[in-house]
Amino acid sequence: MFRPIRGMKDLYGSDINKYNFIIEQARHIGEKYGYSQISTPIVEQTDVFQRSIGDETDVVSKEMYSFVDKGGESITLRPEGTAGVMRAIVSESMAQSLPIKLMYYGEMFRYDRPQKGRYRQFHQLGFEHIGDKSPYTDALLISMASEILNSIGIFGFKVLINSLGDDETRESYTKGLVKYLSRHEENLSEDSKKRLTKNPLRILDSKDSKDKEICSMAPIITDYLSKESGQYFEKVCALLDDYGVNFEIDNFLVRGLDYYSETAFEFKSTSEEYGDSVGGGGRYDKLLKIFGGPDVSGIGFAFGIERLMMLLDDSKFQNKAKKVAVVPVSEDENDTAFQLLKTLYDADIPAEFIHNGNLSKKMKIADRMNCGIALILGEDECENETVTVKLMNCDDKSKKTQTVARNDIASFLKHSL
Ligand code: HAM
Repeated sequence: MFRPIRGMKDLYGSDINKYNFIIEQARHIGEKYGYSQISTPIVEQTDVFQRSIGDETDVVSKEMYSFVDKGGESITLRPEGTAGVMRAIVSESMAQSLPIKLMYYGEMFRYDRPQKGRYRQFHQLGFEHIGDKSPYTDALLISMASEILNSIGIFGFKVLINSLGDDETRESYTKGLVKYLSRHEENLSEDSKKRLTKNPLRILDSKDSKDKEICSMAPIITDYLSKESGQYFEKVCALLDDYGVNFEIDNFLVRGLDYYSETAFEFKSTSEEYGDSVGGGGRYDKLLKIFGGPDVSGIGFAFGIERLMMLLDDSKFQNKAKKVAVVPVSEDENDTAFQLLKTLYDADIPAEFIHNGNLSKKMKIADRMNCGIALILGEDECENETVTVKLMNCDDKSKKTQTVARNDIASFLKHSL
């Protein structure tokens, strides 16, 4: 038997209902804040991700699904959405009218070790606001993300926030960090030893337990913030306070992708079901320029949709639509029942045509398909142009079945559904 590829899963039933609900809420709120939708291809040239996310990140160095296509070009299944959106802004000449606010959702791919909340194919819901650098923009984006979480019924979360500063900040911080880490070099993991010269900031993001222990005593970037970056960060925090956003400063938050500067943040769930990051983002100053666009800054974030889905209650997302089953007693009534079905569809009444097996099997199928009402058509009903209406899960015998004229059935159902 074929199975889905490891780390990939089929979405159906309550899961797909949750997925659609999350997207609907996010689109509604995104529109309110002025975001329009974009959908970019799932594959891009490998360089699109390599240049923007950074060679030394786990995503690029270990997790990308890259392959050479039949034309000899190296292409990659997107591991995240931001790089493709930046590429699109430049290749579609959208940067001529800045600022620009875009939202997107869809499949992402990372060849990571599958575990709870971590898949090889997953979905992200992301927002990018480009060409408007100010603490107000940052605070609004974070506040909008919190509003989306609340609107889908996730209240147990906190926003962790940090500043990665400007170029000046990161240059002096990197020196301080390397000085500290060099003293512990022999105890660092092999990956981190390599990163010590190539990209020391990435060491702070290491999942290795020894690296983590060493990093817990490392100098913090906030102590190195330039004057401008320090004031910028303070203002963002003050504005979040004003909007009542529940945030905490996390001095060690560096995020796993190389393109961030200034404000960086993550949404951490406080639930026992899944207590890890459900989303994250930050400001990026150079991304658009990397793709040949103007030298303007942007900020964005993405939620992991599966991680949000895990926090929603299954029972609230079962298919509960009230449907009507049209049930002919025997084959002789099939054509009349088929006509009745059209009358229902024309009146916008959700209905199923159930015509296989004997009557008791048909009623069982109707029940399984979540039909609340069955319209039974036998010989008598056809002759008298009536329908027997049966309420499926009703114990009150007087209400359980009744006869209704076929011509009146649509208006009768509109009142009882
Ligand atoms: P990220 O933190 O790499 O950021 O991913 C964002 C979210 O995607 C994570 O917080 C998590 O919820 C979800 N996610 C990541 N990997 C997996 C996985 N293997 N399985 C399930 N969920 C996962 C970005 O991707 C940036 N592009 C966000 C951004 C937008 N920054 C600026 N604009």
